Amino acid sequence: MSTLSIRCRICDGMSLHPFLDLGKMPIANSFLTHAQLSEPEYTFRLRCGFCVSCRMVQLMEVVEPDMLFHGNYAYFSSISQVMDEHFSELSTIIGEEILYDASLPIVEIGANDGILLQKLVSHNANAIGIEPSANVAAAARDKGLNVISEFFNVELAGTLRAEHGPAQLVVGANVLCHIPDLNGVARALEALLDEEGVFVFEDPYWLEIMAQLAYDQIYDEHVYYFSVSSLKRLFEKHGLRIFRVDPIAVHGGSMRVYGCKVACSRREEPSVRSQLTLENEHGLDSLDTYSAFAARVEQSRDSLRDLLGSLQGEGARLVGYAASSKGTVILNYCGIGPDLLEFVCDNTPSKEGLFTPGTHIPVVSIDRFAADYPDYAFLLAWNHLNEISIKEHVFREHGGRFITHIPMARII
Ligand code: SAH
Ligand code: TMP
Ligand code: ZN
Repeated sequence: MSTLSIRCRICDGMSLHPFLDLGKMPIANSFLTHAQLSEPEYTFRLRCGFCVSCRMVQLMEVVEPDMLFHGNYAYFSSISQVMDEHFSELSTIIGEEILYDASLPIVEIGANDGILLQKLVSHNANAIGIEPSANVAAAARDKGLNVISEFFNVELAGTLRAEHGPAQLVVGANVLCHIPDLNGVARALEALLDEEGVFVFEDPYWLEIMAQLAYDQIYDEHVYYFSVSSLKRLFEKHGLRIFRVDPIAVHGGSMRVYGCKVACSRREEPSVRSQLTLENEHGLDSLDTYSAFAARVEQSRDSLRDLLGSLQGEGARLVGYAASSKGTVILNYCGIGPDLLEFVCDNTPSKEGLFTPGTHIPVVSIDRFAADYPDYAFLLAWNHLNEISIKEHVFREHGGRFITHIPMARII
């Protein structure tokens, strides 16, 4: 079900130091039916470690991928308009700066419901999506997209190359950090890419997670928390290199990394060196930086408990807004249950009528929220603050206020 490793999953060394313990945690996206509330829930210990040797920040205990990515996967990428616009921009960059040979395939891993793939097909009809979660893959196929419902790995890379030829692009958003066997992914990239082929990945960026105190980015699906320096070391072990990095705002601060084979003609751009310098200036190579982060996470938790407790003490009605996986981490780590939050509302139809993992707060529709506005809505998807705040202007005009816990709890 889950495996605990005291060795680093990337370099296999013994220099992995645990620095943050978020305690016993259920699967972040396993929302429960009413009947499941009385059954025992699967839990594991959510702990993060830093490898002093290869710099990779990683979970100590990793849940088996098929427990997370299956036919009932809860996250449909297309729920967010902001992400849709973001992927339109990425698709434009890919069309203008990356693609170079219309006869070579492009492959997207972690294609989900096709949010990006449906844009990529306009550049190249041979755009193939890889998506192991069968329900979201089916949603992509319903859009007419070519999606293989399997985990991306070195075997699949070999099959793809044999059937379609070498890839000019392998792209993946918010998926690389989900895959426990990253050495296997790097080997798969090496096997699948054309000599001039490019890979582009974007994932939450560790420096931003630290800067914003966004500890709720840490959960079962995110096995790794990347820096440019850790990714650079990983890729270079496998004949690959990074030639451009581009900080992006989505999901509270991510990094888009462009890479290729070592011998590819693309030149390394100055962004790589300057980001590495920035990481060193922020002490990303020092264990002290990580323990200081862990201490601030505890302060953030205390500030949230204090704020919600005192508002409730004043008689205010409190609810949660967005049944996100991040929300599962916050609620469980901070010990927030149905005694504090009346419900959590969310716009994903499949989550309606379910209960939050571990804390058992009912999940309701946004209509229910709008039917009887509470005094405060605690935002469990702070990364979507702008989008939600605009959508919910009527709530705010009725005197309602949002609460965020990032970086410390406050009313906004
Ligand atoms: N790219 C989308 C989806 C991110 S969620 C976006 O940015 O919105 C991560 C997705 O990766 C899930 O749909 C999950 O099923 C998929 N995934 C997990 N492991 C994978 C693997 N080994 N290969 C390909 N996809 C994987
Ligand atoms: P995420 O933080 O893992 O991206 O999950 C976001 C959750 O927020 C998802 O369950 C849908 C929900 N959501 C809303 O309810 N309303 C919105 O406007 C947006 C953008 C997301
Ligand atoms: Zn290591």
